[in-house]
Amino acid sequence: MFNAQQVRALQQDSIKWLSSAEGEINAENIEQLRTVLRFHEQRYHVANDPIISDGEYDIIYKKLQKFEEVNPELVTPDSPTQRVGKGLIKNFPKVQHLVPMLSLDNSYNAADLIDFDRKVKELSKQENIEYCIEPKFDGASISLVYENDHLLTGITRGDGEVGDDITPNIKQIRSLPLSAAFSKYGIETIEFRGEVLMNKNKFAAYNKGLMEEGLVPLANPRNAAAGTLRMKDPSIVNKRNLEAFLYHVSYVGKLTTDDGRQTTEGRLLSPHSPLATGHFPLPTTHSGMLEMLWQLGFKSPKKEMKVVHGIDDVIKYVNEFEEGRDALPYEIDGMVIKVNDLNMQDKLGMTSHHPRWAIAFKFKARQASSKLLAVEFQVGRTGAVTPVAKIAAAQVGGVTVTSISVHNEDYIKEKDLKIGDHILIERSGDVIPQIVKSLPELRNGEEKEIDFPKNCPVCNDGLVRPDGEVVWRCVNINCEAQVAERIIHFVSKDAMDIKSFGEANVRKFYALKLISDVPSIYDLKVEMLGNMEGFGAKSVTNLIEAIDASKKQPLHRLIYGLGIRYVGETTAKTLAQNITDIFELAAKTEDELKQMDDVGVKVADSIAAFFKNEDNVQMLKRLQEAGLQMKGLPKEKKEGGLTGQTFLFTGTLNKLKRNDAEAMAEALGGKILSGVSSKLNYLIVGEDAGSKLEKAKKIATINIISEDEFIKLAAP
Ligand code: IVH
Repeated sequence: MFNAQQVRALQQDSIKWLSSAEGEINAENIEQLRTVLRFHEQRYHVANDPIISDGEYDIIYKKLQKFEEVNPELVTPDSPTQRVGKGLIKNFPKVQHLVPMLSLDNSYNAADLIDFDRKVKELSKQENIEYCIEPKFDGASISLVYENDHLLTGITRGDGEVGDDITPNIKQIRSLPLSAAFSKYGIETIEFRGEVLMNKNKFAAYNKGLMEEGLVPLANPRNAAAGTLRMKDPSIVNKRNLEAFLYHVSYVGKLTTDDGRQTTEGRLLSPHSPLATGHFPLPTTHSGMLEMLWQLGFKSPKKEMKVVHGIDDVIKYVNEFEEGRDALPYEIDGMVIKVNDLNMQDKLGMTSHHPRWAIAFKFKARQASSKLLAVEFQVGRTGAVTPVAKIAAAQVGGVTVTSISVHNEDYIKEKDLKIGDHILIERSGDVIPQIVKSLPELRNGEEKEIDFPKNCPVCNDGLVRPDGEVVWRCVNINCEAQVAERIIHFVSKDAMDIKSFGEANVRKFYALKLISDVPSIYDLKVEMLGNMEGFGAKSVTNLIEAIDASKKQPLHRLIYGLGIRYVGETTAKTLAQNITDIFELAAKTEDELKQMDDVGVKVADSIAAFFKNEDNVQMLKRLQEAGLQMKGLPKEKKEGGLTGQTFLFTGTLNKLKRNDAEAMAEALGGKILSGVSSKLNYLIVGEDAGSKLEKAKKIATINIISEDEFIKLAAP
């Protein structure tokens, strides 16, 4: 896209724009400023290799935005500021594709591919065919038209002939340039196809957000991408961080034909000589087309594709790729094998359904059908009652699934689930399995409604569903289910870290009444465990020693282990730093709690409510008697370059491990917060940062910096 010299020049320009005042922008240099922004968009969204931080990009972007506000006559349709749509889309107009969007023939094994190759060889009368192999992206397909170097329309597949014009939403996809120099190739109009995706990280974060809001999580990233493209509000699309891979050029209308006539028509998928002097020659191969799109700033599978000769190498590559499937940041459901020579593609032509020059190779399915047999209700540590469906064993993506969470009462209603229903399930990537849908058309009348219990399935106390929440809760804190879950949390790795006291052992001990609550762990004696099945003398001593050793764990681990709602590890550390012992925490009022960094209203209320319960205070007294470490961390503040500053890391860091980075900040006197608030001084942004970054952008006093900038800041 840009050569080394251009990259250097653009980076220099970036530095200039970063430091210059807005007043220095004028009609002459504004396009240079836009080029700088487009360059960084390409580096970030297409090449996945940004060379300035998000914060720096934002500074330059805002300068352009401000200037354009004052000088509206200088705004161009392809200015980076013009992605953001104004207002809502009323309806999506129907538009005809220039060339119908066909489907692909499918293959599932080597024999199918050999058969495909045989047909290609027969029809083309050639041996040893050159194939281009690329991923089969699992998203929502789109068709784009660029005219005179500008994005004209973005259209959904629709019925293949006519789709919906979703251009305002397409513009929100930052890996798609709003303009591109097709005219360099003599192209006036071009139509090409691709797939819009939501990457796996973004999808996981999106689903988590939905669940936190009590909404229904989506079954897969494809549904998330397709649903997002149909939003009526482009500003929501903007926030979802979609991306698009382009993989097929369906139409090229040239400025001039080879013999020099003016024309606006002409499908071009065959080799062409350079059109006119000064024009780059059009590629004669499919891989060349993907390369051309990449050069023009689009995301095509240039890096993922492979050109091979003969079907044996095709089979090798598709198998190799399937093995690495889970490591990809996005979902694919197979590979597409295409005859690489465009001239040969033209000769082979199409059936009414699919091209004869391409075939999809489908990977192992990640969807399977099953039957919903029963629903069980599990009670968690906080008393939340979660319905879990027991289903007929189904193989999905290499694992056997027999139970699947159905989240909450609203989810069950929304998915229209009944016991006895046929269901479609999906397990994509490392995402936990989800029900895609029930199949009501297969019902025989014997299906039963799923009744959500009114009483706790374990202690039988009445369940409560607080206003505005989707979750039913058992509020009896002595409920056995909650007690067992609380003990499991207390001994877990991030809390008291009692080695060899895993979940299964806790449940066993609890069922045998060897332990009855958290403090009773410390009453366990070697003699009590002597006769336990599967527990040799060595395991018993190890466990007792581990329990004993946990008494010395620092206070923040104990606080975290108590399982107070909304008190995560970071908040637990903050609390421990602000008290001399745990009973001081118990005595603090909500207002005093809120004075601490990182403690907001919700957290303060929850802590105060925890200690208002006399049972909890008694529990702490018993833990104190057992000899646990109840003292806070030394009060004296560490002095260093970052004293008094607060930090929060978000997204994936490339150079440092999250824990090490936090330790670096703390070693220099900095403090780590757990959420974005006005108390935060620095947000350090790694890859795929999500809602924290969005939130921080709204608070002017927060410095948003990259990992490299943080390293510089922490340097001696
Ligand atoms: S080529 C005329 N290449 O899969 C040929 N399609 O099941 C056009 N798809 O309709 C299709 N990745 O939506 C092609 N690398 C790829 C693809 C791809 C995903 C989708 C596309 C197509 C569907 C067929």
